[in-house]
Amino acid sequence: MRKKIVAGNWKCNTTLQEGVALAKEVNSIVKTSDVQVILGTPFIHLTEVVKLVDNKAIAVAAQNCAAEPKGAFTGEVSAAMVKSTGAQYVILGHSERRGYYGETSEILNKKLALALENGLTPIYCCGEALDVREAGKQNEFVINQLEETIFKLSADDFKKLVIAYEPIWAIGTGKTATSDQAEDMLKTIREAIAAKYGKAIADETSILYGGSCNAKNAKELFAKPNIDGGLIGGASLKAEDFNTIVMSF
Ligand code: 13P
Repeated sequence: MRKKIVAGNWKCNTTLQEGVALAKEVNSIVKTSDVQVILGTPFIHLTEVVKLVDNKAIAVAAQNCAAEPKGAFTGEVSAAMVKSTGAQYVILGHSERRGYYGETSEILNKKLALALENGLTPIYCCGEALDVREAGKQNEFVINQLEETIFKLSADDFKKLVIAYEPIWAIGTGKTATSDQAEDMLKTIREAIAAKYGKAIADETSILYGGSCNAKNAKELFAKPNIDGGLIGGASLKAEDFNTIVMSF
């Protein structure tokens, strides 16, 4: 059975002290053993948060890693550095990274390879902008994103991934995709995985929905057969709301 996952993406929020306080609160209130909970913190929080999270259900993720293994790349943080903090996951391909920092499929392929080489599990994000959705081209757009990146991986590497579908028009806007829209896309993604890697791998791949997922709408989204959980932005910054989402399966 594929994993149910609720991952928080704190983005560029919380000072170290605020982040430690938030992680402590989440650590103390989350009571589950059948959902993998992940805290996606800023780089500088990773070491502290890894140390204080003793709840077995909770793992820690970075929100990015460098496209180069090491060297003269001022300001970058490598996959090996992320791994050395004790973090287990790394979010890659978030639309904010693609949109604001020019991350192309080529760059993402390097990051994916380095993350996997260093034993990190990528949470690979995909999703279309509003104009693509309005033109009815969202399925081909998203499948193309996958074909240019993760569908180039070997089956053995692909099996290690988590995928997150995050329509850009739903991120931080309060405008969630309906549960039917989200389910349609996740089903399309799972069918594409089955066509490429076979049904067994498709059935084992956790695919998450992200975009204004919150304590009120998570239950309806997670009730859909292809939605294995959520990648949560704003609502992951409030421990009670985040826990309600974790409990929404
Ligand atoms: P919001 O939940 O704030 O819409 O953000 C979603 C997201 O981008 C998670 O990666």
